Amino acid sequence: MIAATQGHRLMALLSVRDLSVAFETRDGLVRAVNDVTFSLDAGKVLALLGESGSGKSVTLRAILGLHPAVRTRVSGEVLLKGRDVNRLDEAARERLRGGVVSMVFQEPMTALDPVYTIGEQIVETLVQHRGLDRRGASRRARELLDLVQVPSPERCLASYPHEISGGMRQRAMIAIALACDPELLLADEPTTALDVTVQAQILWLLRDLQQRLGLAVIFVTHDLGVAAEIADAAAVMYAGRIVEQAPIRDLFRRPAHPYTEGLMQATVRRGQKGRALVPIPGAPPNLIALPAGCAFAPRCPRAYDACLATLPSFHPVAAGHAARCHLVA
Ligand SMILES: Nc1ncnc2c1ncn2[C@@H]1O[C@H](COP(=O)(O)OP(=O)(O)OP(=O)(O)O)[C@@H](O)[C@H]1O
Ligand code: SF4
Ligand SMILES: [Mg+2]
Repeated sequence: MIAATQGHRLMALLSVRDLSVAFETRDGLVRAVNDVTFSLDAGKVLALLGESGSGKSVTLRAILGLHPAVRTRVSGEVLLKGRDVNRLDEAARERLRGGVVSMVFQEPMTALDPVYTIGEQIVETLVQHRGLDRRGASRRARELLDLVQVPSPERCLASYPHEISGGMRQRAMIAIALACDPELLLADEPTTALDVTVQAQILWLLRDLQQRLGLAVIFVTHDLGVAAEIADAAAVMYAGRIVEQAPIRDLFRRPAHPYTEGLMQATVRRGQKGRALVPIPGAPPNLIALPAGCAFAPRCPRAYDACLATLPSFHPVAAGHAARCHLVA
């Protein structure tokens, strides 16, 4: 589950503390991720929620230490099994990415190499990272495709990425990510227009793998219905900050932050198809000129004077549940 206490951090598989990522651009400093703090235990599933541009992908990339040093300012701690990703050299980071944490999805078409078959790509990963010989790697590749429930593994192994469907490509990517036996999987929602049913199936597959292999998973989704069913906890991001974090049931039963409430009213959830959707009016703030107070204030139906003047800090709502809102204080 997520928690941010000092004692808990010692046990967590992943502990992120005061993580900030800013990009130097011609127009100014883009503050994409600001003071993000959370932790995740082994075997748990965390959903990362929030509108487009709220900093979800940048956070995931920072956990992997993937941001280039050039024109990017990364500060804070990302402890994976107690080792700070930001303080390791590239070789040590690569070993963590191979053995402890893997990323799936982001851009399925660009992440797979178009000139090699799926089989060749999985085998290559196994030979390089697990030291298997080609025969052993071929056998393991077949097992991995079974694990990710590809219906015709042999055909998939012999196919080039463009020859299989988007959903199969994602399964193949998950197989590659699992090739190194990671303890944590990061799954970014595909930006390409994949069928929503296929997306939900992929998230269910992740849940199944999580249960069978004891993996920890952080996934990004816009589908709150799926998040409600498969995550243990959620963190809601707005303008680069986590504004609410909670065990998943609490978040849906008792959202404490007006932005979370708005997000739920703006999204269809399973079993609520007839309900009218109410989009959140307005747009997120410019990340180059973030306001001094609450970044949600211009859109918040409950904003008052203090919201414009002071940045709200995290206030506890219940066990494991906290929100960054003056109303919760
Ligand atoms: N290399 C970069 N240089 C400048 N700005 C960047 C860079 N990468 C990301 N950003 C900005 O950082 C902000 C957060 O981006 P991010 O990709 O994390 O959003 P997101 O929450 O994943 O959104 P989506 O749901 O659309 O995927 C956005 O405003 C984005 O434009
Ligand atoms: S701090 Fe104020 S503006 Fe921000 S979410 Fe809470 S009530 Fe709304
Ligand atoms: Mg993204």
